[in-house]
Amino acid sequence: MNQSGCHWTSPIAVTTIAVTILTTRVASQTLHAPMAEPKEIPLMEKIVSLCKRRGFIFQSSEIYGGINGFWDYGPLGAELKRNVKELWWNIMTRQRDDVVGLEATIIMSPEIWKASGHVDTFADLMVEDPITNKRYRADQIEPQNGVVYYYSGVIEDRAKYDEYYQTNQIVQATDEKFDGPFSVLIPKGKPRESAERIAQQYYAKKAVLKFPQLEGERAEAVENSTLFSPETGARLTEPRPFNLMFKTYVGPIESEDSIAYLRPETAQAIFAQFKNILETSRQKVPFGIAQIGKAFRNEVTPRNFTFRSREFEQMELEFFIKPDVVVEVISGTVAKVSETEHPGEPQPNWGWQAWHQYWVEERVRFYEGIGLSRDTLGFHRQFGPELAHYARACIDILFKFPFSKRDNQGKVVGDELEGIAARSDFDLSQHERFSGKSMSIFDEELRTAWAKLDDARKTELSKRYHDARYIYLTTGLPDEDQASRDQAAKDAKEDAEGLAKGQYIPHVIEPSAGVDRLILALIANAYSEVTETDDKGKSETRVTMKFHPRVAPVKVGVFPLLKNKPELVAKARQVYELLRPHLKAFYDDGGAIGRRYARQDEAGTPFCLTIDFDTLGEKPELLNTVTIRHRDDGKQERIAISELLNWLLPKIR
Ligand code: GAP
Repeated sequence: MNQSGCHWTSPIAVTTIAVTILTTRVASQTLHAPMAEPKEIPLMEKIVSLCKRRGFIFQSSEIYGGINGFWDYGPLGAELKRNVKELWWNIMTRQRDDVVGLEATIIMSPEIWKASGHVDTFADLMVEDPITNKRYRADQIEPQNGVVYYYSGVIEDRAKYDEYYQTNQIVQATDEKFDGPFSVLIPKGKPRESAERIAQQYYAKKAVLKFPQLEGERAEAVENSTLFSPETGARLTEPRPFNLMFKTYVGPIESEDSIAYLRPETAQAIFAQFKNILETSRQKVPFGIAQIGKAFRNEVTPRNFTFRSREFEQMELEFFIKPDVVVEVISGTVAKVSETEHPGEPQPNWGWQAWHQYWVEERVRFYEGIGLSRDTLGFHRQFGPELAHYARACIDILFKFPFSKRDNQGKVVGDELEGIAARSDFDLSQHERFSGKSMSIFDEELRTAWAKLDDARKTELSKRYHDARYIYLTTGLPDEDQASRDQAAKDAKEDAEGLAKGQYIPHVIEPSAGVDRLILALIANAYSEVTETDDKGKSETRVTMKFHPRVAPVKVGVFPLLKNKPELVAKARQVYELLRPHLKAFYDDGGAIGRRYARQDEAGTPFCLTIDFDTLGEKPELLNTVTIRHRDDGKQERIAISELLNWLLPKIR
């Protein structure tokens, strides 16, 4: 049984988990999105432009001006994405005995999202600019310095007001006064009139007055304030929660009863189908269920190209494990593991910490295996309020994107590619609660081991299990709700008694990765350019996409040396037909060979084969051989056609 999962990596490596600071984001909110959004980052602009020019990524609905937060993958992008998903699927499921797959629907019972907490809590706190009505995520307002002008209210500017009504020959309204306070931040040195203009607009909008005259002006210098609009300087509204799930209706009637959601993550279907899969797959805990699929989030501020999109794909694994108490019953103790090293091959005495560390390291190896070296990655361990109340730990694997911010030591921090969370038994317990269906499993080993324990040990372990269940069952219950507390005490007691019968609810480790973020990381990592200037001073910049051969959209280019020599063309087509059932090859006979190489370099094709006169036997010893040119160093070697597949396949798998 190969449980290590990664068949392509070197021996166990050491990772230091660094605590880092997450980056802040610049917000904007429009339906239409300009293609080259991150203007201020030249490398991002180049990447976005290459993606369009070479058909990696296009803006969705571009001919209609685009739609913000949605992206399409063109021919090269589609191949790249498919390769990444195939590699993940292969390594996470097919190469392991302890993980099986699932392909669930995008729309599921809305009860699932109530149980998971998404209906109540999957929200961003939003603030609104009262002048433009643009919304921003409250945690993404860039701190600003300047002078704040406070106003206590407004009265009409009678002179202007009278003149307006006389000129327009309309009946004059009665005096109105709006006295709500308002404030505006303007940069130091800007005239106070610019603050006044914003305030006038605010009161005009609010109070429906035509010519507001401001009252109670007061000025104050501020630093690092996040209370004001980055665009107009107007004081933002109080934060309000905004649920990120896309809603739709199932069936012909649009009513509260027919509301359904586009899934915001693929994980919940795994929990909902846990029992079916356990019963049909002949798996025993510890084992995992993997799924790749679309997820949808109505992100307030889609940004950084595809990094934060509204429609994206996830690759998620829910790996179910025994609770530590159960491990202790069966194995006597729970293994202690280092927090910085791969713990090695899975062992029966592993508790959640070992499994969590194992998956962090396995996932890092996966990234290394597709060309993202450790120095391009970072780690962020969630602490305190960042960590969900039920989670034991969560480590994010970060990639250092061109837009990633620096920490106060000047080091690039990176942005999240994947989160690996130890989620206790929260998800299965929630589905048990909401569906009324038991999520506990029966484990003969546990029952047998329990019977052999002495009474003191039984009491101690049972108490630990009971207490953890009681905490879960009472979290969020009001103190005064004694009836629910009594019920929770009864349920926790029953759960603890279940240990003796070999029953428990599995805990889970969740490595959850975003496909689109990984594609963007691979593109950014691969991008390399060289500018050459010729004798006449003319410069040309050539781009090479240095993808790892495993993910490269096209694995091999096949070229006849000359297009107008039928024997060369026929032989090249023959080689192409030989290769294409096994890998993505690209046949090209257009233009000079150098131009053909350059086109493939830009597409990231790692190898190009040329069929020349030697292939046809001009030099008899080279009959039926081709030249292979390597993308990254331009080196060439000669290889027999009969050996091509043997040579190529191990490099791309
Ligand atoms: N089931 C856990 C979960 O969904 P998450 O951190 O919200 O956790 C997991 O998402 C991964 O999905 C992220 O690490 C990221 O790679 C990807 N992801 C999340 N939101 C995304 C978005 N708006 N656009 C692109 N990828 C996103």
